[in-house]
Amino acid sequence: MDVRIFDSAERIGQEVGRLICDYVNSNPEACLGLATGMTPVPAYNYIANEYACGRVSFAKVTTFNLDEYCDLPKEHKNSFYSFMVDNLFSKIDIDLGNVNFLDGNAQDVEAESKRYAEKIKAAGGIDIQLLGIGRNGHIGFNEPSDKFTDEAFKVKLTDSTIEANSVFFDDIPMPRWAVTMGIGSIMRAKKILLVATGESKAQAIKNTIEGEVTPENPASILKQHPDATLFIDKAAASLLK
Ligand code: PGA
Repeated sequence: MDVRIFDSAERIGQEVGRLICDYVNSNPEACLGLATGMTPVPAYNYIANEYACGRVSFAKVTTFNLDEYCDLPKEHKNSFYSFMVDNLFSKIDIDLGNVNFLDGNAQDVEAESKRYAEKIKAAGGIDIQLLGIGRNGHIGFNEPSDKFTDEAFKVKLTDSTIEANSVFFDDIPMPRWAVTMGIGSIMRAKKILLVATGESKAQAIKNTIEGEVTPENPASILKQHPDATLFIDKAAASLLK
């Protein structure tokens, strides 16, 4: 696992955005794994600007998002689908028919998980998976647990995650459940880029880099990935030895 420390969130956004645009320019049919949350936004802004300047096209790109809330209509402003449309998809030439989300309202979660896994496989697997990290070390919505998961599943969100994300819900209470790609699905991506900024992520980053590999800190599994890079700012790096 490589670790790169930057001065600001904007610099991380430029670096990660550039890596993704370069990859798409050499592989126009790239398959990207995307993440929601505030941390990837600078990278999405960089990508949108590159597209606006005519330097990259996403017309043939396929995407798979990591997770989605349960019991929230897809079109609700706080769904992760809406987040991606607002922050990226509406600003680039991606074909919305090529963007994929887990259905947070699926009645049969097992069938939904199978559908997602098969779709990822049919797309040739994920080339680059972008990840944020929770204050508790979650990736996607793989919350601290006693075992690593494989494919997508339904998860009860922890108090830490509810506290962090509730600030975005002003009209209804934040959903308590979500569906997320499992650790196995994330680890099968060919390349992983994890972004973390701010002091609130410092302990999770320390545990990930210096701690043991344990499902109690889901991000720690990335140490076992052959091509994973952490892009962190100085605040997120502040507890490292
Ligand atoms: P954030 O969320 O980027 O909004 O901090 C990251 C995450 O929970 O994975």
